[in-house]
Amino acid sequence: MNARVFSGIQPTHGLHLGNYLGAIRHWVRLQDEHECIYCIVDQHALTTLHDAEQMRSNTREVAAALLACGIDPERSILFVQSNVPAHSQLAWVLNCVTPLGWLNRMTQFKEKAGKHRENAPVGLYAYPVLQAADILAYKATLVPVGEDQKQHLELSRDIAGAFNRKFGTEYFPLPEPMIAGEATRVMSLRDGTKKMSKSDVSDMSRINLTDDAATIARKIQRAKSDSILGIWYDPEKRPEASNLLTIYAALAERPRAEVEAEFREAPFAEFKKRLAELAVEKLSAINARMRELMADPAEIDRILRYGAERAAAIAGPVMEEVYDIVGFLRP
Ligand code: TYM
Repeated sequence: MNARVFSGIQPTHGLHLGNYLGAIRHWVRLQDEHECIYCIVDQHALTTLHDAEQMRSNTREVAAALLACGIDPERSILFVQSNVPAHSQLAWVLNCVTPLGWLNRMTQFKEKAGKHRENAPVGLYAYPVLQAADILAYKATLVPVGEDQKQHLELSRDIAGAFNRKFGTEYFPLPEPMIAGEATRVMSLRDGTKKMSKSDVSDMSRINLTDDAATIARKIQRAKSDSILGIWYDPEKRPEASNLLTIYAALAERPRAEVEAEFREAPFAEFKKRLAELAVEKLSAINARMRELMADPAEIDRILRYGAERAAAIAGPVMEEVYDIVGFLRP
């Protein structure tokens, strides 16, 4: 059965290899079989990013990156969250059926709020409800994400169920997460026990899709390694080797065991050299295309406007039905 696919990405910074391997490459593939809706979630980014210029330029850069990776704005709907009012409208309705206790369990809030919980913005706390609204505003059924989004997606299902139960309806389908492939959790190049992340202060910890060939090669060469001869997968004892092996397999689109067999006896330096070559080969075309696209921001804006119109044409009628279900009078 054809699914309706929805997924989102924050424009807090540019994209990195974790976003690409954990999510975007699957988004691209899913376009062949399903109706796909991909959203740059600027309202989510506003929970941590309070710089208007940065927000605007990151939003365009993420759009360019998605297009360069192969998102086709004709086959798929590519748009910016704040351009479609249904997201905030539905988020409010869902806020009113989501128990506080469910949000208290969210580990990402605890991590992001840190010790200064009282100072954390309300938006950061309600973040997963807006995420549920993103998905449900399109009655999407399949949500391709990296491993770190698992808890948020379970919550989205629970929120859909809570709405249905409270209003005695089957209106929202329960969305299925899709956490697929070899690289559902790409780790930092500097510390194999930490996720590769946009918020890491060290740029050497991640490969950005904007990095040129020399930078990619340098980052891989300087990635943390160990002094054991041969490369094999053992995330407990050899987190860095395991992470680089996983990255290799995902970039080469080969099973991890096969790559492991090839490098089992190889010195770390030799493996890194091969990985750097592979990464440069795979990422340089994306990088070049991104540069072309970013040179024409008006074209990016046009594509995003077109996407927003098509997104609103789906989400608008859903919102009207939701308002009917909850009993809001129409104007
Ligand atoms: P975000 O912007 O942090 O990340 C976008 C996607 O990239 C994946 N990802 C990773 N995958 C593997 N390894 C990593 N190191 C890595 N880092 C990030 C994420 O899992 C994600 O799939 N809350 C979401 C955005 C969102 C959303 C949604 C997603 C808003 N609404 C509705 C799905 C459906 C987020 O912050 O992703």
